[in-house]
Amino acid sequence: MIKLDYRNVKSAIVGNENGLEIEQEFENHREKIAQVISDLNKRKDKPGQWLQWMNLGYNEETVWLVKEYASLVRNRFENILVLGIGGSALGGIAVTEALLKPYWNLLTEEQRNNYPRIFFLDNIDPDQIQGLLDLLDLKKTLVNVITKSGSTAETMSQYMIVKDLMEKELGDDYRKNIVATTDKKTGFLRQLADQEGYKTFVVPDDVGGRFSVFSAVGLLPFALVGIDIDEIISGIKDMDLALKNTDIFENIAAQNALIHYLMDTNKGKKLSVMMPYSSRLRYVSDWYVQLWAESLGKEFDNQGEKVNCGPTPLKALGATDQHSQIQLYNEGPNNKIINFIRIENFDNTVEIPRIFEYTGLGYLGGKTINDLINAEADATKVALVDFGRPNVTISLPNINGYYVAQLLYMLEVQTAIAGELYNINTFSQPGVEQAKNYTYALMGRAGYEDSAKTLQEKMGANA
Ligand code: PA5
Repeated sequence: MIKLDYRNVKSAIVGNENGLEIEQEFENHREKIAQVISDLNKRKDKPGQWLQWMNLGYNEETVWLVKEYASLVRNRFENILVLGIGGSALGGIAVTEALLKPYWNLLTEEQRNNYPRIFFLDNIDPDQIQGLLDLLDLKKTLVNVITKSGSTAETMSQYMIVKDLMEKELGDDYRKNIVATTDKKTGFLRQLADQEGYKTFVVPDDVGGRFSVFSAVGLLPFALVGIDIDEIISGIKDMDLALKNTDIFENIAAQNALIHYLMDTNKGKKLSVMMPYSSRLRYVSDWYVQLWAESLGKEFDNQGEKVNCGPTPLKALGATDQHSQIQLYNEGPNNKIINFIRIENFDNTVEIPRIFEYTGLGYLGGKTINDLINAEADATKVALVDFGRPNVTISLPNINGYYVAQLLYMLEVQTAIAGELYNINTFSQPGVEQAKNYTYALMGRAGYEDSAKTLQEKMGANA
């Protein structure tokens, strides 16, 4: 199992001002946490609670359907193109980057075991879109358009562009090159997919975008590029079982949720940094940033009191960002808690040759890059402690589907528990609606005429 080391948040280590009497805090919150965990597990099957993501490890039907489709299209496509944004893309990017061989899209077909290359289009930058379309042979591309709502302007506009091009290039056959992942009943994409006769997969009810990585949203692209989804499922299940434990002393998600909550509310650590010492896990930080930000950043609590709560998540990459952000983390405002992710065993061991032995570089020769990255992680942690900066470390024995699934699932549960501690609705995102409505108004969508008027006035006033 993955592990959490919270030693460096203790007062005895980082001082009273910045640290916690952590075992005492676990004891003080023991009952509350036990209640939160059992309540989440009780509520998870109730409609409208948005907790169905807790059941995704047990969705055998989806796993079966995904595998069946992936084997049906095996060897038919050179490229997978995923269209999606936010929760419909970030999990897919994080997991494929973690589990596929590095530089996957640059490998030969043979090196990829004849699995396709994979591209995620998760923005609406015209240069990026055109650049990718210039690169891909659409006849040999399977497009997986993913949107739970089926109406997200970014994703649907990409879909419209690609569909139009495909139809022109492939004629009626283009339908076989599109697979849609969306709500089972509602939304434009569902309607269009049914009309056009695309193969479809369902984003289950009560699974929000940022909690959807283990639904067909993630599993389908993973299976299409040959990632072992059974291994992922078994990682989620084992972690789910471990996190059902209501005893905070035994539950790492509850521990890290409480640590973050207390650090934010009692110790002024308003920022939470995710810093894996692994390039393959660098996009796990992007995924975490969305999960933490959209889930916990809320204006009102569950009683309607204005709270404007939520720690700000930041991403960093070890060792790269030691040369960019660590100066700030050590000496700047002491307002952060840092989450290190450490890999015990990398897939490869890269030796540093014994050259330049009698120079200042001699100490590196004969060591490995593996020694160096973990030494840098340890050194950075100790330096942070010297400056009184709290940090935790999540360790993965190695990077595979089993442990990466554990990591992501643990962070999801941690977020849900933290949401209960903040007493807010973890699964809503009212704060993103305003700008969305203004965009619709600017783009002339019917029904948004009033917003368009307000917007013109405000834009005029700001000009
Ligand atoms: O987490 C969320 O709910 C959001 O980030 C959504 O995933 C994002 O807005 C995309 O929505 P949709 O899947 O409906 O296109």
